[in-house]
Amino acid sequence: MQPNSMHCLVVDDEPRLRRVLVRLLEGEGFTCREAGSGTEAIAMLEQQSAPLVISDLRMPQMDGATLLREIVSRWPDTAVIMVTAVAEVESAVACLQLGALDYVAKPFHLDEVRARVMQALDKRRLILENRMYHQELEQRVQEQARRIEELSLERLQALVHALEEKDPYLRGHSVRVANYAFRVGRELGLEPGVLDMISLGAELHDLGKIGVSEAVLHKPGKLSEAEYRHIMDHPVIGARILGPLMRDAPAALAIVRSHHERLDGKGFPDGLKGDEIPLEVRVVTVADSFDAMTSLRPYRPALAFETAAQELLDGKGVQFERAVVEAFLRAFPNGASLPMASPELRPLHLPTPGAAVRRA
Ligand SMILES: [Fe+2]
Repeated sequence: MQPNSMHCLVVDDEPRLRRVLVRLLEGEGFTCREAGSGTEAIAMLEQQSAPLVISDLRMPQMDGATLLREIVSRWPDTAVIMVTAVAEVESAVACLQLGALDYVAKPFHLDEVRARVMQALDKRRLILENRMYHQELEQRVQEQARRIEELSLERLQALVHALEEKDPYLRGHSVRVANYAFRVGRELGLEPGVLDMISLGAELHDLGKIGVSEAVLHKPGKLSEAEYRHIMDHPVIGARILGPLMRDAPAALAIVRSHHERLDGKGFPDGLKGDEIPLEVRVVTVADSFDAMTSLRPYRPALAFETAAQELLDGKGVQFERAVVEAFLRAFPNGASLPMASPELRPLHLPTPGAAVRRA
């Protein structure tokens, strides 16, 4: 139960002084609870917190300063006023440094206590309002940043589709790869957060081709060594473009950078080997290679399903992850089981911050 703001816990080992304070506060409309020691006060706060605690400094068992420390760390929203003897000004100041909002010295004047209580509650209210304001502000800033990232990614997604649209050899490639990879990831039993990463990374994986010369990209004949290296810059270019936008999606970014890595370490751009290549990437690599093989290329016709499936099997453990190839062929056992170009693709969306990303 949330205590109302006119609730106070009065802590003093002297019942007479406690009663004086309680009477005063009740006269001001407070409801009060009483504790005869610091230990008792903690037990009562554990049952129900209080917006205001007035506590004596000198008490047996647990003194007021220890109680204050405990309250500040466990109930930081509670305003604490310490009651001290006149001779204890130094201790009272120490209490203010520990987090008490104020103190009153004994013997106290009731009007003074009343004024200090009201002042302490006002201070507490301002602190809480200020904190809430900052929390709301922070939340709004985060929402805005997220929206900007989403909008930017949606634009990049549109850009990928536009790039593919004007290239008859690439048309629909990213959507098909995302569909294959998503289905394979599901077949492997990956969690929804990981599947989101796979979909996002797969759809944007070839964005870096924006930086590759069209003449080289569409060259019908054999590529020279330099031309091949130029094309193979696209994962790095893509990762460079997307890096600032995908801080919350490192696994998807890894797909963009590493989708041409090979299990045997002979891939691009970093020569990663085996488990150094994240599982999400290994999933997309198989999907990407399959789609590349079954699509028309300037230098060869599209391969039949059976030929491409055999290529995947031949590459098991060398170029491709065994389990991924097997999952692919379970998900797509024959040509008739392949999805159409686009209907299955889920909408592009960012994963939730902190979503678990499994790395095998
Ligand atoms: Fe690629």
